[in-house]
Amino acid sequence: MNVLVLVGSLRAGSTNRQLADAAVAHLPEGTSATVFEQLADLPHYSEELDHDDALPQVARDLREAVADHDALLLVTPEYNGSMPSALKNAVDWASRPRGAAVVATKPAAVLGASGSPRAAQWAREDGVKVLTVAGADVLDDTVGVGSAFQAFEEGRLSDADLDLALRDLVRALAEKVEQARTAA
Ligand SMILES: Cc1cc2nc3c(=O)[nH]c(=O)nc-3n(C[C@H](O)[C@H](O)[C@H](O)COP(=O)(O)O)c2cc1C
Repeated sequence: MNVLVLVGSLRAGSTNRQLADAAVAHLPEGTSATVFEQLADLPHYSEELDHDDALPQVARDLREAVADHDALLLVTPEYNGSMPSALKNAVDWASRPRGAAVVATKPAAVLGASGSPRAAQWAREDGVKVLTVAGADVLDDTVGVGSAFQAFEEGRLSDADLDLALRDLVRALAEKVEQARTAA
């Protein structure tokens, strides 16, 4: 099993990147994870670009990456009460062409970290909504880390209960992949 990770913060030292790393550390043995590192290079989605002869290489790369991975992990900060546009844009690219979108039926889970105690709740809710509308098979449960700038110690969540919740969510995602395989 392999997991594609989309991290909505583009900055070095991102707490969401730390959360992504902490989640990946909980993946079952034998599972690999790849962070899609080109989110900042994706042009804004436009139907004019979405043709074989105009499709930007980075959009092609994103679609191939989503198609080649068994599951998606979306890790989002909260910007003005929602997910950052870079993340939404990536989901928009992955959600087309209609009827053959790489994101359709893809098992997915959403995590989020924010500097406030609200733990990116609105962004996480929007992440679940947007992925659901795009056709992914999304876990309703999410994990949020509030006061994120104080939440990590040596790459781990210092709150043991939160770390357990993260482990449970990641395992639930792995189980979803197994169920999808069994059903196929
Ligand atoms: C444009 C912008 C808007 C923000 N809006 C919110 C917000 O609505 N709610 C919130 O809790 N934090 C907000 N923040 C603070 C972010 O939560 C914080 O910068 C983020 O958690 C940092 O994530 P990172 O460490 O992964 O970059 C905002 C930050 C930026 C840059």
